[in-house]
Amino acid sequence: MSDLVRHQFPQRVIGVLISGRGSNLQSIIDAIDGGRLQARVAIVISNRSGAQGLERARQAGVETLVLSHRDFASRDEYDARLARELKARGVELVCLAGFMRLVGPGLLEAFPNAILNIHPSLLPAFPGLDAQRQALEHGVKIAGATVHLVTSELDGGPIVVQGVVPVLESDTAASLAERILAEEHRLYPEAIQRVLAGDWVLEGRRFLLTSVRRAGV
Ligand code: GRF
Repeated sequence: MSDLVRHQFPQRVIGVLISGRGSNLQSIIDAIDGGRLQARVAIVISNRSGAQGLERARQAGVETLVLSHRDFASRDEYDARLARELKARGVELVCLAGFMRLVGPGLLEAFPNAILNIHPSLLPAFPGLDAQRQALEHGVKIAGATVHLVTSELDGGPIVVQGVVPVLESDTAASLAERILAEEHRLYPEAIQRVLAGDWVLEGRRFLLTSVRRAGV
């Protein structure tokens, strides 16, 4: 797979999909407010009506929408509706932030190489649920977080950035998850800023900055 297409995000409009707490959403909102991320969140969509992140979005004056997958006959119909709502608001980049749903072809095709996810492990280690506990129980000494482009493979797309978090002997799954989360909050806005700059290409699975390639580094 070689994708030398430049990815353009001229309006820097993002949409965030959540299912729960929304602390990563908050870090995105805070980074925008703090001038560390040049973007506008056009909409936050949750598949759960009780998601705490919805309140965070409202507090920030961001439009919210609840779309429960249970109200749709199929994943395709659900994804088509998500794509329609996002497109209707001019969204160029979709950011999954604790969105507990697999993304199907309907959404992937509407946003080619323009869906990001954050995962609390150093992928490809420990994909799927409860990644921090998986890492602790495996006995790794280094854990972390990964922001990657979303493909049809769960937690499997090209890696944009990773952040490292040491595992301490005193760690529990909860204490490790807390330190990884702090790293996620630093990492996700940085990754979004990098992707929106559009100055990158994919070579196979590799996410490469074109400025670096031009310089021949
Ligand atoms: C984070 O750990 C993220 O990496 C994972 O789900 C969690 C979401 O947390 N995908 P929050 O809803 O952003 O607080």
